Amino acid sequence: MKIAIGADHAGVRLKDELIGFIESLGHQVSDLGCNCTDSVDYPDYAIAVCDQVVAGSADKGILVCGTGIGMTIAANKVPGIRCALVHDLFSAKATREHNDTNVLAMGERVVGPGVAQEIVKIWLETEFSNGERHRNRIGKVQALEHKYAIHP
Ligand code: RB5
Repeated sequence: MKIAIGADHAGVRLKDELIGFIESLGHQVSDLGCNCTDSVDYPDYAIAVCDQVVAGSADKGILVCGTGIGMTIAANKVPGIRCALVHDLFSAKATREHNDTNVLAMGERVVGPGVAQEIVKIWLETEFSNGERHRNRIGKVQALEHKYAIHP
């Protein structure tokens, strides 16, 4: 798969550690920054990754900031993105099976690199269950994107 990855200054170290790991799983990684520890704004990197996922130039996206929370909030503003904040292995599997998430967010200040690698592996390797009830619920979420769409 093609994986777009992005981080702010508080997530750049974990982002950089994950890139080689994701490549070792056989995926192609597009690193959209940041690439420094100077203070930057997480929405800029969330949107860079989500734009690639929505456009189809990446199959999935991974975002890292200090907590993962800001990245998750920003990512879920993008129509077509279903981003989950995950810090445990159970949720990594469940959010693929139930929510068909296309973006994963984590917090470098919350989770260590070993657990983060396991989360990424499970999340990338778990398929959507495609159960009718889950499709129906995702459809209701997608309907919200239309109901509350803002047309500037
Ligand atoms: C940066 O200090 C921090 O606020 C950011 O990385 C993230 O945790 C925001 O949700």
